[in-house]
Amino acid sequence: MDTPIPILLISLLLSSLPLFSISSPHDTLPTSSSLSIPNLLTSPNGVFTAGFHSVGKNAYCFSIWFTVPTSDGSLTVVWTANRDQPVNGELSKLSLLKSGDLILTDADQFTVWSTNTNSISPLELKLLDTGNLVLKNPSGTIIWQSFDSPTDTILPNQPMTRTAKLVSSRSQTNISTGFYSFFFDDDNVLRLLFDGPEISSVYWPDPWKNSWQAGRTTYNSSRRAAFNLSGYFISSDKLLFKASEFGL
Ligand SMILES: *[C@@H]1O[C@H](CO)[C@@H](O)[C@H](O)[C@H]1NC(C)=O
Ligand SMILES: *[C@@H]1O[C@H](CO)[C@@H](O)[C@H](O)[C@H]1NC(C)=O
Ligand SMILES: *[C@@H]1O[C@H](CO)[C@@H](O)[C@H](O)[C@H]1NC(C)=O
Repeated sequence: MDTPIPILLISLLLSSLPLFSISSPHDTLPTSSSLSIPNLLTSPNGVFTAGFHSVGKNAYCFSIWFTVPTSDGSLTVVWTANRDQPVNGELSKLSLLKSGDLILTDADQFTVWSTNTNSISPLELKLLDTGNLVLKNPSGTIIWQSFDSPTDTILPNQPMTRTAKLVSSRSQTNISTGFYSFFFDDDNVLRLLFDGPEISSVYWPDPWKNSWQAGRTTYNSSRRAAFNLSGYFISSDKLLFKASEFGL
């Protein structure tokens, strides 16, 4: 008759766990705190979740994904901090330092990724309803945002800019950097490039056509594109198409 004691101990342990890990989801990481497995951030509307996502045996990436998995149970990841350098499951953490830097450290404390930001005032990290992860100061100024450095996806409200570059995943099951990229080229035109181990070539728009033959313009140097509220992708180089599916 020695079982009642361990059971009592377990229930005591459970009831003394910090609210952080068992309460309703939250969207903010305050200054001088950190996030580690299994803690998550969830946008107020519940659509997006940020946290450590398993990419292999004891290998994790800090990512943002749609909270609801697809019908086959897989997660639709929309942004990743460390796609080429997964971290350990134990002891890895995302920390918002007092200095204003947001860093991702591996089990051995090695910094795998950081926002390289600093601030005198305390910052907070917040996952917004749009899926944008933002570092804000007390007056609401955005110091850093995930929307500025897309991985392989842009979301509605997320502009494609002159510095943004979407790079495909290696494969359906491997989210590390792949060979296909989408970006504004030096002549202001959005292009797709295959950059493989042996060959590198632009394949869209058709490289045998000039820009106007391809329905584009090189004259607008603003280099900006985005989905509008009806699901049209509208670009400063005159590329226009409608998303085949739009809305949730
Ligand atoms: C993903 O692909 C990269 C590049 O080929 C490789 O180094 C890495 O081990 C792969 N990761 C997994 C989980 O298979
Ligand atoms: C989005 O762009 C399309 C094509 O230019 C336009 O017809 C539509 O009215 C726009 N929708 C909104 C909400 O601005
Ligand atoms: C250039 O593109 C921007 C969008 O980035 C647009 O607002 C502007 O009207 C365009 N300029 C011209 C001359 O078409």
